[in-house]
Amino acid sequence: MAIERYVQALPKAELHLHIEGTLEPELLFELGRRNKVKLRFPGVEELRRAYEFTDLQSFLDIYYEGAAVLLKDRDFHDLAWAYLSRAKADGVRHAEIFFDPQTHTSRGVPIEAVVEGLCAALKRAQRDLKLSSRLILCFLRHLGEDEAFEALRGARRYWGSLEAVGLDSSEKGHPPKKFERVFAKARAEGLKAVAHAGEEGPPEYVLEALDLLKVSRVDHGVRSIEDAALLERLARERIPLTVCPLSNVKLRVFKELREHNLGELLRRGLCVTVNSDDPAYFGGYVLENFLAVRRALALSPRDMAQLARNSIEASFLAEAEKSRLYAEIAALPLPE
Ligand code: HPA
Ligand code: ZN
Repeated sequence: MAIERYVQALPKAELHLHIEGTLEPELLFELGRRNKVKLRFPGVEELRRAYEFTDLQSFLDIYYEGAAVLLKDRDFHDLAWAYLSRAKADGVRHAEIFFDPQTHTSRGVPIEAVVEGLCAALKRAQRDLKLSSRLILCFLRHLGEDEAFEALRGARRYWGSLEAVGLDSSEKGHPPKKFERVFAKARAEGLKAVAHAGEEGPPEYVLEALDLLKVSRVDHGVRSIEDAALLERLARERIPLTVCPLSNVKLRVFKELREHNLGELLRRGLCVTVNSDDPAYFGGYVLENFLAVRRALALSPRDMAQLARNSIEASFLAEAEKSRLYAEIAALPLPE
């Protein structure tokens, strides 16, 4: 079996994926027409050409702009269904999906349209693609604590449909501690916690995410490498990092993929996983992320299997389901 086919066949969980970041230019224009939303780009080509980012903020500006075409249940369904079908082709068996309610409710879109549209697609994927999934409600960290509480309360009727809360958007200057109380409330209501930390922000933000927000895993977390004690703790406690290699290059966290620290984190025994973050903007879905790091960092087929295994371990799946997937990974013959 060729390596590409092997990596595709490995059962994988995708754990760092913003549903708004899967909005491909073609669907963006289709929804724009359907909803009569005027766009400042004449067409798909011009829009794609604008996807030249210099840092996280330069990406977020255009990402929030694109989300303006999402208005109705059906739009959120179509968005999530397109992602889930694409993920299935990459060998994704389970996806834990972020969404940003504040990006939509601030434009007058009811939370019902967002969650019900997404849930309809998730249900359809379970039935028709045998792909399981969960939803993670993210707070926008460039906004305040009050707004985060409002977002959590606004989704109250859907708490039972959510797996966890998360934290995303502009990291620098917005430390996790700003959201300590709203995370405590969410955990008290039975939700798990994850947070973006250590993408552009310092390792102290990773520590805050662990100690103040009590996260089960850290999204990105690549700057943890700057703090030896933190790195040891992440390895010892098997706290997963959901790493997004192509995203990190597009947003210039690393200059080139060859300089990425994923291989080193793996060698140091951390539970690192590979994910696509915002694939419509960063030029690759999860399989492309796996294959790109394999080439750039000269990772072995065993490393690919370890990364797939880590993704299952880091997921919120039940232990019995994890065991089934581990067995599938172990049974897959390694490529020549
Ligand atoms: N970081 C922070 N916020 C985000 C990202 C990211 O990588 N993607 C979408 N929102
Ligand atoms: Zn992200």
